[in-house]
Amino acid sequence: MTAPYRVEILGKHSRDGFDCGNEALNEYLCRRANQDQRKRFAVCYLLIEATTDQIVGYYTLSSGGVSLADLPPQRQKGLPRYPSVPIARIGRLAIAKSEQERGLGGVLLFDAIKRASASSMGVYAVLVDAIDEQAVRFYQHHSFEVLESNPRILFLPIADGLKRITKS
Ligand SMILES: CC(C)(COP(=O)(O)OP(=O)(O)OC[C@H]1O[C@@H](n2cnc3c(N)ncnc32)[C@H](O)[C@@H]1OP(=O)(O)O)[C@@H](O)C(=O)NCCC(=O)NCCS
Repeated sequence: MTAPYRVEILGKHSRDGFDCGNEALNEYLCRRANQDQRKRFAVCYLLIEATTDQIVGYYTLSSGGVSLADLPPQRQKGLPRYPSVPIARIGRLAIAKSEQERGLGGVLLFDAIKRASASSMGVYAVLVDAIDEQAVRFYQHHSFEVLESNPRILFLPIADGLKRITKS
């Protein structure tokens, strides 16, 4: 990660004023993230600018599963024939408007892939719920592939994500 940023789990941070340009994602961080975290439905990771201590981005990570039949046929080849494939789900991901287009969205994606790969549980892929078509294109830019059953849900096998990280 670039030097002046750090990633922290959401705690008693002040979240007022975070604006990524999407009201639902702003609202989630301010009003719902804490509760989801308390109930162990998601962990919210904050990207913090170290010199100002401002939150400049966040994402949420949860464990989950996806049906093997929802993966593209080429991806199903060689996988164990269990009905559910273990994944880590990025439910939400956002960068503050003032900090967009500086590579920080990619930094958060890589952070999520690294955490998922370091998990002590089996995790085949990172899966994302894209909020709109622009978000779909952002994830495709980062080599995520759409699910057969829902073009707003995309996945990237951890092994492929780690290769991308070592190349970059
Ligand atoms: C989508 C979002 C997270 C991207 O963050 P960002 O920090 O601006 O993106 P980055 O600067 O890391 O972009 C990394 C790369 O993706 C590309 N990219 C970014 N947004 C893109 C888009 N909509 N379509 C295609 N490529 C895109 C960039 O060109 C860049 O390419 P490069 O590495 O070749 O230079 C950010 O715009 C955002 O928070 N938007 C509002 C909320 C949202 O849509 N969240 C998405 C998921 S729920």
